[in-house]
Parts: sequence; structure tokens; C-alpha cells
Amino acid sequence: MAITRLAGFLFLFSTHCYITTLAVVLKTANKAPWANEFESVELSCLIQSITTLEPRIEWKKIKNGDPSYVYFEKKIAGDLVNRARIREPATLVILNTTRSDTALYRCEVTAPGDHKSFDEILIDLVVRVKPVVPQCSVPKSVPVGKSAELRCVENEGFPQPQYQWFRNKEEIPEDPKSSPKFLNSSYTLNANSGTLKFSAVRKEDAGEYYCKAKNDAGHSQCGPQMMEVYDINIAGIVLGVLVIVLVLLSITVGICCAYKRGYFTSQQQTGNNYKAPAKGDGVDYVRTEDEGDFRHKSSFVI
Ligand SMILES: *[C@@H]1O[C@H](CO)[C@@H](O)[C@H](O)[C@H]1NC(C)=O
Ligand SMILES: *[C@@H]1O[C@H](CO)[C@@H](O)[C@H](O)[C@H]1NC(C)=O
Repeated sequence: MAITRLAGFLFLFSTHCYITTLAVVLKTANKAPWANEFESVELSCLIQSITTLEPRIEWKKIKNGDPSYVYFEKKIAGDLVNRARIREPATLVILNTTRSDTALYRCEVTAPGDHKSFDEILIDLVVRVKPVVPQCSVPKSVPVGKSAELRCVENEGFPQPQYQWFRNKEEIPEDPKSSPKFLNSSYTLNANSGTLKFSAVRKEDAGEYYCKAKNDAGHSQCGPQMMEVYDINIAGIVLGVLVIVLVLLSITVGICCAYKRGYFTSQQQTGNNYKAPAKGDGVDYVRTEDEGDFRHKSSFVI
């Protein structure tokens, strides 16, 4: 029994050795490399073990679940033609990355002479894109105590940029309470969406605002824009007085006109009123009789 068990162990041991020696095994120095756009990047595919002399090496790019060849029959193919090369044995070097290179890449090595004749390795490449100048909207003037929303949007940057807002060249902290200068301000700042929202603007919130969009690849900012804050009371009073004056003026003009045309219009109207009911009554009377009300009426009379 002991001998058969030992033999079995030896058999397992030897087959194990056999498999490891006659197997293609890949590894990578970096499963998730990244580069800034227009830089070069290396998708490392290293052959740890192989016995086949001329293995078949292929690279596929997998974007949105669709695989396509980028290295096939010893030639760079597809998107990467003229922009990439293979470094022995199987590493793919992209010389000038573009944002569309962000994808999964699969290094596949087939070694027919090995017992385990195939291995593959998946590499997740991210090409970072520096943000362009964001689009900023700042209200020109806001009355004291009213709400105001400042918006900042940038759509090119990758990964999605974070936003910072500045007032008079000073960064606005995410939490107003963290700085004595912004302590009493009513804003909320969303660094992900780029929105700076005041629930009630104060005089102190006036100033030159600009926004910066920032990610790992770099940053960009829009030009400063002035936000003025005016006092609603003075404006309200001025507006109120103007409205009252206008109303008084139109009433006066109205009365004047009415008075001037007074006789003429009232005469016309009485004339019309006098005629209209006479016509209407006559027609109505005839119609009701024609339409059968006549019967009811007549039966009622009878
Ligand atoms: C990289 O490609 C861009 C266009 O995609 C081109 O403008 C630029 O000159 C290229 N850079 C190099 C170093 O080839
Ligand atoms: C904030 O408001 C408090 C009271 O409402 C006032 O005492 C303080 O001076 C204000 N601080 C600033 C920086 O305006």
C-alpha cells in the first residue's frame, strides 16, 4: 500500500513538473499603466516560461466589449499603425498615445510546442487628458439676499476633472467655515459638478470669480468675471417710485382722454345700446317661435 501511494505521489509530482516546464506563462510589470495624451507608454507582456522557439504573439484592444487586433502576424494593426512597436519578446510600446487609446489590451501568446500552449494577460490602459478651458457662467449682478448660481463645465479632461472656484484670485474653500474670510457666506461648493451656489448673496460676496478644472493630467481655468451685488432696498425704492409715477401718469392721461372724448363715446354707446336690444329682441323672439318653443308656448296658452 505504502509503495503504491509513494508511486502515486511520484507520478503526480512528475506530471506537475512536466506541466510547469512545458508551459507558456506570462506576467506583466504593470497591469494598469497610464500616460498623458501624446506621451509614450509601455504595455508590458513578459514571458516567464516557454519552450517553444517561435511562439505566436498577438495583441488585442478591447473597447466597449469589442476586441480588435492591434498586433497580428508580426505587424502593428488597426488604431496603432505607425504609432506603436513591439519590444522583445511581447511588450507593446505606444509611442504617441491619444485619448482613444484608453481601453483594455490583451497580450496572447500561443506556444504549440508547450504542454500548456496558451496564456494571456490583460492590461488596463488609461490615457489622461488635460482639461481645456472650462465654460464658466457668473451672474453679472445679484441683489443682496437673493440666491445666485455660478457654473463651471469642462468636457474634455480625463479622468473627469475636479473644479475649484476663486474670488479675487483667492481659492474659495469647500467649507466656508474653514476660513474667516468666507465664514458668513451662504454658499455650497460642489467640486465634482463645478457649481458654486449662494442661497443668499451678501455685499461681501461681490468680486471677480473664475474657475479652474483640474485632473491628474493638468489644469485649465476660465477668465475672471465680475459679480456685482446691489442693494435691493435702494433699487426697490427707485423701482417703486418709477412704477408709481408711471401709474399716476397713465391714470392722468387716461382721465384726460376719457374726459375729452367723454360726450362723443357715451353718445355712440347709448345709440348702439338702444339699437342692439331692439334688433336682438326681435330676432330672439322670432327664433324661439320658429324652433318649436312656439308649440310649447302655444299649448301653454291653449
Ligand atoms: C502625436 O500625435 C499628435 C496628433 O495625434 C500630433 O499632433 C503630434 O505631433 C504627435 N507627436 C509626436 C511626438 O509624434
Ligand atoms: C460674521 O457674522 C457675525 C455675526 O453675524 C459677525 O460678528 C462677524 O463679524 C462676521 N464675520 C465676518 C468675517 O464678516
